[in-house]
Amino acid sequence: MKGIVLAGGSGTRLHPITQAVSKQLLPVYDKPMIYYPLSVLMLAGIREILIISTPTDLPNFRRLLGDGGQWGLEFGYAEQPSPNGLAEAFVIGADFVGDQDVALVLGDNIFYGQGFGGRLRQEVSALDGCTLFGYPVRDPQRYGVGEVDGTGRLVAIEEKPARPRSNKAITGLYFYDRQVVDIARSLRPSTRGELEITDVNRAYLEQDRARLVDLGRGFAWLDTGTHDSLLEAAQFVQVLEHRTGIRIACVEEVALQMGYITADECHALGSKLAKSGYGEYVMNVAAAAGATG
Ligand code: G1P
Repeated sequence: MKGIVLAGGSGTRLHPITQAVSKQLLPVYDKPMIYYPLSVLMLAGIREILIISTPTDLPNFRRLLGDGGQWGLEFGYAEQPSPNGLAEAFVIGADFVGDQDVALVLGDNIFYGQGFGGRLRQEVSALDGCTLFGYPVRDPQRYGVGEVDGTGRLVAIEEKPARPRSNKAITGLYFYDRQVVDIARSLRPSTRGELEITDVNRAYLEQDRARLVDLGRGFAWLDTGTHDSLLEAAQFVQVLEHRTGIRIACVEEVALQMGYITADECHALGSKLAKSGYGEYVMNVAAAAGATG
């Protein structure tokens, strides 16, 4: 399975912060926001990843992330010149996707939960059509919303409904089979002029090939769309990291755990960041895994 991180948009809800910096490069406590969704793809076992952003911001993502080789990954980069919707990622990334399954993750979505990696890998191998991840929220009208029947089967999806029929937000992580490129190409822009991911999901639902995985109890899905939610996400990460001594979405550690890099390689990455607590942590993780550096 391949992966796409969509990190476009103009971040207008965070202005003026995002007037000169891409939203997905803003810090969430100790690391850039994009590390969080990136580590989700890595945990799913995905190593070939396309990063899509605006022509202005793309060079900054390249500067931060490079070709991915340092983390045992392969990054490609592509431009989304105007904010034409999330589903445009598959039109832009058509050649990259080729005839493979693909995961899309939004560059501003933060997921945290015990055993998430194993769950993701299970869903990757069980994929048949489309797999979505739902999370109960208090304000579903801000999101794509999934309605399930008594047996938990997905029966309807609506984008930002004024009167939501459930509290299950469809989070910004989507698994699709290779049909997704043709589906995205056949979409017509919505009333807000965008190729909507919800319309892609609905196309799979009409074929009865859309599954909603419930990320309920014991799981956190964090939003970073407003000044308050951005700060709250950072506070959540800070409290959790301080209390447990374990960093969330530390890409070097994930790469080591997944066997993408060796303990010595991990140590070398940490030593380049040694002046920050983050770098020290990476070196400690590497040492615990037997690094000799
Ligand atoms: C997008 C999707 C929405 C989804 C949300 C998750 O909304 O359109 O269906 O629930 O991402 O973050 P946006 O944040 O672009 O308004």
